[in-house]
Formats: sequence, C-alpha cells, structure tokens
Amino acid sequence: MILDRIDELLKEVSELSAQNAEEVEKLRLKYLSKKGEINALMADFRNIAADQKKTVGMKINELKQTAIAKINELREQAETADAENDDLDLTRTPYPIRLGTRHPLTIVKNDIINIFSRMGFTLAEGPEVDDDLHVFTKLNFAADHPARDMQDTFFVEMNPNDVTKNILLRSHTSNDQSHYMETHQPPIRVICPGRVYRNEAISARAHCFFHQVEGLYVDKGVSFTDLKQVLLTFAREMFGPDTKIRLRPSYFPFTEPSAEMDISCNICGGKGCGFCKHTGWVEILGCGMVDPNVLEACGIDSSVYSGYAFGMGVERITNLKYRVSDLRMFSENDCRFLREFESAY
Ligand code: PHE
Repeated sequence: MILDRIDELLKEVSELSAQNAEEVEKLRLKYLSKKGEINALMADFRNIAADQKKTVGMKINELKQTAIAKINELREQAETADAENDDLDLTRTPYPIRLGTRHPLTIVKNDIINIFSRMGFTLAEGPEVDDDLHVFTKLNFAADHPARDMQDTFFVEMNPNDVTKNILLRSHTSNDQSHYMETHQPPIRVICPGRVYRNEAISARAHCFFHQVEGLYVDKGVSFTDLKQVLLTFAREMFGPDTKIRLRPSYFPFTEPSAEMDISCNICGGKGCGFCKHTGWVEILGCGMVDPNVLEACGIDSSVYSGYAFGMGVERITNLKYRVSDLRMFSENDCRFLREFESAY
C-alpha cells in the first residue's frame, strides 16, 4: 500500500511545474514542509512491518531526494525568469552600443600638437581666467589699446586703481607666453593649446569662445628664417606636401616684425573658390619675432636672446580640413555632426 503511494508521489513530483517563485514555494510546502506529503509518509512508516522497513525507508528517501532536486530546479528556473523580467529597462541604450567619437576640434588640436612635438616642442598650458598683466601689459599692449576695451574682452573683475590687476577671460593664448617666460629661461620651445574668449555676437562666422594654439621659441640667434621654415613644415604636414605659404606684413603689439600667414586654399587647390573668396589663399595664423620689450618684461635678457611666436585658430584649421560651414556646430554637441568624425582619428 505505502509503496504504491510512494510510486504515485514519485511520478507526481517528477512532473511538477511552476510559473514563478511563488508557485515553487507552494509546491515546496506541499511536499517538503513538516506538514507536507513526504512527512505524512513518515508517520505511516512507524506502522510498517520490521522486515519491510528497509525497502520502504529507501524508497521514501529516494522520493525525498527527487522532490528536493525537482523543487530546486524549478526555483532556479523561476529566478532566472524573474531576473530577466527585472532587467527590462526601456530607457537603456539599444544594442549595439556605439562608441563615442572625439570632437573635431580635439582631433585637429592633437594633430597640431603631434606635428610640433615631432619638431621638438613640448606642451605648456596657461590659465583661461587671467589678469591684465599677463594677457596685455607684459605683451607690450599700450595702456589705451582697443583690445582692453569692453567690446572685445570679457572682464571678470575691474580694479579701478590698477588696470594690470583687472581679472578677465583671456582673449588669446599669448598669455601663456608671459607665464612661461616668467618661470623659464631659454632655451624655450613650447606649444600652448587652449580656449580663448571674445565679446562677439554669435553667428556662423564668429563665436564668443574659440580655440587657439600658441607657439613660442626663444634661444640665442633665433631668426625669422627659423620661424618661416617651421611654419612651412607645419603647413605641409597638416595640409599636404603641395601646400604653399605666404607671409604678409602685419601688426601685433608683442611681435616685431609681425606677419600673417596664408596657405594656398586646400579646398580649391589655389585656383580660387567661395571659401578663399576667389583669392586662392586663406589666412591661418599670426606670427612674428618676439618684441624685445616682451622678453624684458618677462625677465629674459633681450641682448642675449631672441625668439619667435605664432598663434593659430583651431576652428579655422578644422574648417579648412573638414569644411565645417557654421562655427556654432562646434559647441552644439549635435550627435549627428559629431558622428561624422567617427573615423577621423
Ligand atoms: N595672439 C594673436 C591673436 O590672437 C596671434 C599671435 C600669436 C600673433 C603669437 C603673433 C604671435 O590673434
């Protein structure tokens, strides 16, 4: 009798199924708890004839093990199913997750840094919030120079008694020159990338902040020829070996003589197009020999040393390389624009 009942339960147990953890627990209570079916068999076990006890005992044990194994198996299944349901996150980025891209300005800035580091320049960086002394005064700007005017420079804090103590957002990376020369003696050969600010209305062609890379070389016997050769090498590395350069006389307070450098338009190859206003040339940087007044103001003996400096706009170079028609795209973080540079580095 009892053996039949055990066989019946064995069959029942091995065919058990459950939808979720709650149902599994119900089955566990039904078969394996103190008041469950298997314990009930134990109660009957006492009334069994002694010579049968061994066989029946073994059978009950087999039933119990089968039930435990089955319940564990069902519990595991239910848990995995529950875990899968909990994982359902409708806000998660769908697979495949796309890798981010480098910003085009970062790509071009890194290109510039790489080219100059191959020529022996090292990196130096200066502050974006600085004082008048380092942004203008030490760089030989006259006290009434228009760049100090509210029109161009963002002032953070005015000092009514001493203009050199005015705090402002730098309008060019040339402040890196004053900081570096103050703290280092020649030979100096540095490249300084950074963000600069000017009080301009935002449009496709102008922005209130943009990026520059400054270069500074100071040593004994540095001449304009060295400057020209370094810039020619840069232009050819950046825009290709056929690139031509031309230097036009210009004026900067901190360099004498000063020049602006054009490269042959790499969009039309110098033939003339909308981008170069049909001249075949595009301006990419300002440069010149460091004015002796600047060297002296920064504690460098101008009777022993000379140097050159140059500064270029990263946006401008990026436009030339990638033809970005609207400057505002650089700071809008529109993913459709940024993804166009996925393969650019
Ligand atoms: N600071 C100048 C500018 O912002 C560029 C420049 C740098 C010119 C160094 C000469 C030497 O336009």
